[in-house]
Amino acid sequence: MINGGFIYAHFKNLIIMPQTTKKTTARSSDTANNTNTREDKNAPLMQLFTDALKDMYWAEQAIIEGLKKMQQAATNEELTEAFEDHEMETKKHVSRLEKVFEQIGLPAEAKKCAAMEGILKEAEEIIKNTPEGSATRDAGLIIAAQKVEHYEIASYGGLVAIAHTLGQTKAAKLLQKTLDEEEETDLHLTEIAETAINFEAAEEGDEADEKEATETAEA
Ligand SMILES: [Fe+2]
Repeated sequence: MINGGFIYAHFKNLIIMPQTTKKTTARSSDTANNTNTREDKNAPLMQLFTDALKDMYWAEQAIIEGLKKMQQAATNEELTEAFEDHEMETKKHVSRLEKVFEQIGLPAEAKKCAAMEGILKEAEEIIKNTPEGSATRDAGLIIAAQKVEHYEIASYGGLVAIAHTLGQTKAAKLLQKTLDEEEETDLHLTEIAETAINFEAAEEGDEADEKEATETAEA
């Protein structure tokens, strides 16, 4: 039989004690309302939050440039418009992040996001490796753009949750707005791919096969 008393006493030392130690070092006003501790700019979770905000501040600005390139490379009108609309939205995401920085009392600062840099490089590779004016390129651009969206959805999802934990309700609301827009964009891209572009790209495959078959027959 498991000795619950022993486990409690054992884990109390391991887990509960450090929190007790932290409380005794807090200022007297903190004991009445724990939010002061949560707003401490040097608290590890607050630092993680601000680092992630800086990462997204860099990423969003890089995405604006990336979307410009994707717009120029795309052929399908609906897709070009989707990239154009999302570029406008992304500009809003940048200013929304500035408001979040303002909310937490820190200057807006960007920190290079290596992941987004890589995702956007991959988009450029797709442009290089697919024929100009093809639906295949458009299909590839949609995948690239959705990788951007999924990174953003994961990041903003985490930021919203942490903002709530830190008691930063206004910041959480602002970040949630952006998260909703990223999710809508992702769904819209799926719709464009699945209703037209992927089928058109598959037909390009058929055309290439037919051309190859004719050339072989003529040889
Ligand atoms: Fe965004």
